[in-house]
Amino acid sequence: MCGIVGYIGNRDAFPILIKGLKRLEYRGYDSAGVALLNGDLALYKKAGKVSELEKITNGQKLSANIGIGHTRWATHGEPNDNNAHPHISQSGNLAIIHNGIIENYASIKAELEKRGYKFSSDTDTEVLINLIEEVRQKDTPILEDAVRVALNQVVGAYAIVVIDKNNPDQLVAARKGSPLVIGVGDNEFFIASDASPIIEYTKNVVYLDDQEYAVVNRDGSFTVKTLANIKMTPAIQELEMSLEMIEKGGFEHFMLKEIYEQPKVIADCLRGRMNAQQGWIKLGGLSEYINRIDNAKRFLISACGTSWHSGLIGEYLIEDLARVPVEVEYASEFRYRNPIINEDDVVIAISQSGETADTLAAIGLAKQHRALIYGICNVIGSSIARASHAGSYTHAGPEIGVASTKAFSTQITILTLIALQIAQEKGTISTSKLREILYELENIPKKIEEVLKLDSQIKELAEIYKDAHNFLYLGRGYNFPVALEGALKLKEISYIHAEGYPAAEMKHGPIALIDEDMPVVFLATNQSAYEKIVSNIQEVKARKGKIIAVVHKGDTEIKKLADHVIEVPETEEVLSPLVSIVPLQLLAYHIAIFRGCNVDQPRNLAKSVTVE
Ligand code: G6P
Repeated sequence: MCGIVGYIGNRDAFPILIKGLKRLEYRGYDSAGVALLNGDLALYKKAGKVSELEKITNGQKLSANIGIGHTRWATHGEPNDNNAHPHISQSGNLAIIHNGIIENYASIKAELEKRGYKFSSDTDTEVLINLIEEVRQKDTPILEDAVRVALNQVVGAYAIVVIDKNNPDQLVAARKGSPLVIGVGDNEFFIASDASPIIEYTKNVVYLDDQEYAVVNRDGSFTVKTLANIKMTPAIQELEMSLEMIEKGGFEHFMLKEIYEQPKVIADCLRGRMNAQQGWIKLGGLSEYINRIDNAKRFLISACGTSWHSGLIGEYLIEDLARVPVEVEYASEFRYRNPIINEDDVVIAISQSGETADTLAAIGLAKQHRALIYGICNVIGSSIARASHAGSYTHAGPEIGVASTKAFSTQITILTLIALQIAQEKGTISTSKLREILYELENIPKKIEEVLKLDSQIKELAEIYKDAHNFLYLGRGYNFPVALEGALKLKEISYIHAEGYPAAEMKHGPIALIDEDMPVVFLATNQSAYEKIVSNIQEVKARKGKIIAVVHKGDTEIKKLADHVIEVPETEEVLSPLVSIVPLQLLAYHIAIFRGCNVDQPRNLAKSVTVE
């Protein structure tokens, strides 16, 4: 959470910082601020989005070629102007931007207070900058040394950039647990939480590792050291991202663009990894550890949010096709409940951002127990990708909308390939069945294109139900996790209360909620449970609930019962989530738009959750 950006070079820093902060707003948008150094250290900060910050700086000539900026997702202290970053040290000489949490800030604060420090915000960050100042005054005049010594006293997670009023030729950045990328230009440096603020200016980047810090200088030199003061040789990597990938491309919102990108990104995700005609699947990461994976006694899947939902689908796929037991865990529960993890377990960690703190910590725990870690991440070079022994990237491209869409479908695509490759290795699937599924998988992008053509029909439905107070989403088998994900999409972006449930479980509780005001979305595309789901629809109809059913094209039986049907193309049952999720994404999107919500940046949420 929180986005940070820093610049040093010959350009005007302010527009670079503002543009960068807007690109990072998906990480939080409770407040925004910049500090610019041009003789004086000028500070501008404001509660609300970056656009609010722009309002207060409008018309002012803010020239500086070194500065830092921050967009906040509040943890310590409410999201007001005062708590907005950057924070300044007591002397006014140092400023800091920070993404993360300093867990022992209270005891450090108490110590500093004893030494006469006064604090004007409720944040842990103001404590950190004053600790750096204290070390600098007491132990060393050199800023990088003071930062290192201070960080060695801190418990928690951080990505920080520090600027010194008396040294306009240098920025010091450090990370532990929160991401940080340094763009290396021609005698200039860009520092940011991810590459999106950098891509426009340079493709050369250095990803800082955990417990490392960097000093970047105006003369183009830079050093990377560990917090134990060991000098590192940083690897400069080339970014694969392009500018258009992070722009809206004619769509009104990133979320809609990303929903529409699904056919393309699923095709990208499959490319080179399977061939239906020749009947092969080859995930590089899987092949590398194939013996260990084939002999795994169990798979544990650990993830959060939407990625956890794709993990549930992974459980169905791997157990169904490869016949290996799977357990799916919320990373936040897994890491704290003393789970049993064995050396012959494979832990699959799923994360769009590759930075989710709980998922990363779950990996750490599993590694201590010597399990093999397989990461499924979207962001290349992210912490989870790097902490895994092996893995597969989803290749969905940057996902900017806070509500995850294309990342979800590509995660399922990878999980399908994993299940099929293991099934093939183990002989738990016949050659003919494998080919059928692979042919169908190749066809999925076209089938999603067909679903996208239903957009205007779904928009009409959204208008009818936009004022509902509750929604219920019901599905069976492969469509149960889809029901969970459909409900999550709706509540995240429209703020309508929604619950996903296994259709048969409805009888054990949610049925009590059903009346004529309750829309119930049924996922009825799985052939194996068709009759059962028809009975569940009858049960809702008998209680006057409004039925919206996602069915196969040409369905006749449910059409007679439902108030509305959304007809999607038929596919293999194991692939049905890839098709049936799309109308639910569109429904949530249109309902949120009708309700005037900010779909790309829903209130209180952030895309990358780097706090526990
Ligand atoms: C946040 C996002 C969700 C995402 C979840 C897990 O809550 O808003 O869209 O599913 O984090 O994130 P990850 O990056 O690990 O998939």
